[in-house]
Amino acid sequence: MLVILNIGELVVIPKGPVCGREMRNVRRIQNAAIVVDGGQISWFGRATDVLIPPGSDVLDAGGGCVLPGLIDCHTHGVFAGTRENEFVQRIEGKSYADIAREGGGIRVTVDAVRAATLEQLIALALPRLSRMLHNGVTSLEIKSGYGLSVDDEFKMLESVRRLREFQPIELVGTYLSAHAVPREFDGHTDEYLGRMLDDPVLSRIRDGRLAEFCDVFCETTAFNIEQSRRVLLKAKQFGLLPKIHADQITQMGASRLAAEGGAISADHLEKIDDGGIAALKAVGTIAVLLPACSFFLGVEQAPARKIIEADVPVAIATDYNPGSSMVESLPLTMTIACTQMRMTPIEVVVAATANAAAAIGRQDRIGAIDIGMQADLIVLDVPSVERWMYEPGRNCLRTVLKRGKVVVDSSG
Ligand code: NIG
Ligand code: FE
Repeated sequence: MLVILNIGELVVIPKGPVCGREMRNVRRIQNAAIVVDGGQISWFGRATDVLIPPGSDVLDAGGGCVLPGLIDCHTHGVFAGTRENEFVQRIEGKSYADIAREGGGIRVTVDAVRAATLEQLIALALPRLSRMLHNGVTSLEIKSGYGLSVDDEFKMLESVRRLREFQPIELVGTYLSAHAVPREFDGHTDEYLGRMLDDPVLSRIRDGRLAEFCDVFCETTAFNIEQSRRVLLKAKQFGLLPKIHADQITQMGASRLAAEGGAISADHLEKIDDGGIAALKAVGTIAVLLPACSFFLGVEQAPARKIIEADVPVAIATDYNPGSSMVESLPLTMTIACTQMRMTPIEVVVAATANAAAAIGRQDRIGAIDIGMQADLIVLDVPSVERWMYEPGRNCLRTVLKRGKVVVDSSG
């Protein structure tokens, strides 16, 4: 057993999904303690009430704030190559969509990923995952979508599977073959989808547990509503739960499709309209907002306040990828949500824990502080989440625990 003592403030995040005002009404316990048994939280409360079981290990939180480990529920964290030339082109006036139409963008990373071996993809991802862990991320979703051939998509998903052997972050795979149409299928989108959604391909993903979710980039430069519907319905027949890159650049009704298709999440939503918000609300789809992406592209943010006020559960993720969000820090992304979307620090913490867990179907096990929840915990070297969000340029993590085991200790 492990007892965590000297917690300045314990942020008692409830199980997701958490909506509306409840995102602000989070209980906090000053001078708290937690008891961990068998990798789960077995007790928490005021330090003056704790019974320390004989023989327990003790962890000193140093008066810091303790909360659930962060969950980055939308990333493209397996990739090769970089695209800083596009970053400069955008500064000089081109848009993300202009660059994609001119043959840049996703296809450039596809060339680099196709040229990389499985081992190289793993070696490139490992240091990124290590830095994410040091920033407090204990669970992470990673999408394929830079292979765009059956073999290269499998190589990406296989790299996610293998990365579990080398590091402690829990990894969740998402099949995103409908990210872009590869050059060799130019003008033949339906044939491309037929190839990538072939029964044997989807069976192999399901039987090898290579992905739990299927995603599609519904956008003028990628897949239209009809094609996106086809992707999601077909994948669902093979047990892959739908997610959608929706309403990012163009309003095409993608959030309504998310609701119609029973998507677990609709992600991006910079251009969502009132009808889309109402559709998400009606079916309980999680709105995954990606503030680091708008920050990185220099474009408008999703209307977070409007979505929260409509009682749609909001999650926040980095969207980490070499094109639209070369931002691997979830804490920095959370501060961007505070200053650019006017979400309060406690709301963004709920968004990056309980609601992020709901966006990957794990809300009953992670993302909350409760008896029986997995002891994925982070200890900050600051006394509150407000102080944490207020200091975006500094890593405020003191200790990270995964299933009750210390995996990062910077307490010196
Ligand atoms: O979520 N929007 C589409 N996909 C990624 C960007 C991928 C890329 O540009 O490489 C995103 O922003
Ligand atoms: Fe994305």
